[in-house]
Parts: sequence; structure tokens; C-alpha cells
Amino acid sequence: MSAFSAVELIIAKRERGELSTAAINWLVENYVAGKVADEQMSAMAMAILLNGMNRREIHDLTTAMIASGERLDFAGLAWPTADKHSTGGVGDKITLPLAPLVASFGVAVPQLSGRGLGHTGGTLDKLESIRGWRAALSNDEMHRQLAEVGAVICAAGSGLAPADRKLYALRDVTGTVESIALISSSIMSKKIAEGTGSLVLDVKVGTGAFMKTVERARELAQTLVALGQDAGVKTTALLTDMNTPLGLKIGNALEVEESIEVLQGGGPADVIELTVELAAEMLRLAGLGEVDVRANLNNGKAHDKWAEMIQAQGGDLSVPLPQARESHVVVAPSTGYLNRLDALQVGVAAWRLGAGRARKEDAVQFGAGITLHAKPGEQVTAGQPLMTLFTDEAARFDAGLASLEGAFDIAANNALGERPANRFGGSGSIVIDRIEG
Ligand code: URA
Repeated sequence: MSAFSAVELIIAKRERGELSTAAINWLVENYVAGKVADEQMSAMAMAILLNGMNRREIHDLTTAMIASGERLDFAGLAWPTADKHSTGGVGDKITLPLAPLVASFGVAVPQLSGRGLGHTGGTLDKLESIRGWRAALSNDEMHRQLAEVGAVICAAGSGLAPADRKLYALRDVTGTVESIALISSSIMSKKIAEGTGSLVLDVKVGTGAFMKTVERARELAQTLVALGQDAGVKTTALLTDMNTPLGLKIGNALEVEESIEVLQGGGPADVIELTVELAAEMLRLAGLGEVDVRANLNNGKAHDKWAEMIQAQGGDLSVPLPQARESHVVVAPSTGYLNRLDALQVGVAAWRLGAGRARKEDAVQFGAGITLHAKPGEQVTAGQPLMTLFTDEAARFDAGLASLEGAFDIAANNALGERPANRFGGSGSIVIDRIEG
């Protein structure tokens, strides 16, 4: 006779009950073992999304998901370790310049990343646009690269938090992604199992993010930070704006291109700002104190580390990045201030142009995506190019353009007002708040 029944636990959560530690352990263990069915776990995920979980339940769910797989251990490494996780956004290529930048200061970055699904891109898809680059590394290869180069971005092995892998796939097709309990246990089970010593979370807020309001994003950030600290991982979070795409390039190869610009001391102000702020936070948590982070973008050290990191995984940076076969320019319909450029709509458009996938099995087009020629707050003139759309299949332009309908506002008055310039030349900081334990 089993200790619990899945149906009784689903009913308990449906009726807003609290699940005990033993019940959560039983549920996760039996789900991974195939004894709790996908349809039962889907119902449970929906009950959790609707009725929530308290901190103790979220902690137990995270612990049970970690226990479902292996744990990596970097304690033997000569360098301290720090990692970053973003809750996902449009044009969010920050991992690419960030990992080598942090490693260039002597802090190792073990970045286990994923592929894109839906409108947010995946780091592995972006890096795979570099000829020869290999995402799949064994645990030994990952350790060796961390010891020798100090930075690795690779696919999370199937042994890490398998309960999350199974549950995430289910949530993706059952409308149960946007639950604070489920998002936080999903993210933190992987990050804690990965074995990093410290962790900085980039919690996105806005139209292009899971969390649409600052209040919800703050609640998610606080939950994530508490889970990290309970597990002995030094954790902080930045709340950052995702109402408009990050940077000027959205799409796999396009984002690699923009990351290289940043690593060579250039690039858009918002990408530089976020890269530098996250790096400073990671270095501080790893015990380095105040350092001039931007210096290593300007003096070539971060770029050298990038080249080492990519080459260690077979990437050939001398081969030009793939380019889309077709392009289409969208021009400003009137003169005035660009007051809004919606992140979600731009993300969906890039996805439909071929930059993302609709099903896990689909291939992405490396050259597909969108280049922006103006950002919110800037003045534009009627007829001036606003953005260029790229795809390998011209038939996709209609779907891309349909997604962009109503995606921007141009008006005579600057609705954004005079926003203070950030330290990197952009208008208005995208870092909204910082959350620590
Ligand atoms: N990223 C994850 O890894 N899990 C979620 O649930 C959401 C974002």
C-alpha cells in the first residue's frame, strides 16, 4: 500500500490545502519513476498555479527535485565559482559576454543553459550558430574546461534535476509555466544541483517576461534568493526591465554578433549596462570586492577569454556567422518620438521569422531575427528604417509583420520624459531594483 495517493494530493491542493514534506517527496519520486501519471502531475501543476504554495512547500519541492538527480561539485577547483540565471527575455544574450568577462577576473563560471522555446531565445541555439561549437559536454569535460579556461557554457546533462526536465515539458504544454512556486523550484533545483558557490538572478519584468508587474517579479526574486540562501549558495537578484527588447539585435547569430561587439568594447548601452552590473554582482559575491569591470571589456581581456571558451568547445570564430537569405525593412510611418517598442511582440515576430521553434524537435534558422534601428526615447522621421526583419524563407515575412502590428507608438511628445542617462550612455537604467537575502 502506497503512503499517499496522487488523486488525494491533487484534491488537497485544489482545496487550498498544504502538502507535507513527505507528500511532496512521494509525489516527485513517483512522478520521476513513472508511477504518478503525466495527467495527474498536470492537474497538480494547475492546482499549484491557481492556489500557490507556501515557502516551506516551495523549499520541499526544490529539495525533492534536486534529489531526483545528481549534484555537481566544484569544490576542488582552484577558482571560486559564480553563475547567473535569467528568467528569460527578448534579445537577452547577456550570458555570452558575461561568462568570459567574469572569468577574465579569475572567477569560474559554470553556465548550464537551455534551448529556446516560444518567444524567448535559448543560449545554446545562439552559440550553435558558431561553426563547430559543441553544446554537449560530459561532466569531466566541463570540469576540465572550467579548470583550464574558467568559463563553460553547455547543455545541462540529463542527470541534473530530471524531475524538473519532466515537469517543465509538461508545464510548457498545459499553461502552467507562470507560477512562482513552479518557476522558482524549477530554476533553483537546477542551479543548486549544478554546484555553483554563488548565483546572481536576473529577474525580468515587463511585457516580454513571465512576470508582467514589478510586484510579481519582486515576489519571484525574493523566493529565489531565499531558496538559494537556504541551500548555502550566496544569492542575489536584480529586477530588470523587459518591456522592450535588450540591445538592437534579436535572433541567434545576430545576438552572437552583438555580444562580440560588447566584448570588443562597443555595443548598445543597455547590453553593456546589464553585463557590467551582473558581472559586478557576481564578482562581489565571489569575494572580489569592488573592481573596474568595464576595463576588461575595453582592454581585450574578456574578448580573449571568449575566444578561448568558444575554441575549447570546437567553435571556429574565423568562419563568418550565418546570415539570412531574405530581409525586409519596416519604416517609421510618422515623425516623432518612439515611445514604445513592445518586447513580446518583437520576440514573437523574431520567433515566427524562424529564430525560435514551435516544438522541441524543430530546427532554428541561425540567421533569422530582427535588427532594431531605433529604441524607445529616440526621435524618428517618417520613412526612416525602424527595424530590419531577416529570414531564410520570404513566406515568413507575413507572419512576422502580423506579430508587429501595434508593437510600437510614435507620438509628437516624448511620453518617456527626461530619463536620467545610465552610466553607459543609454537613456534610463534598465536595472529596477536589487534583492538580497
Ligand atoms: N526557467 C526555468 O528554468 N524554469 C522555469 O520554470 C522558468 C524559467
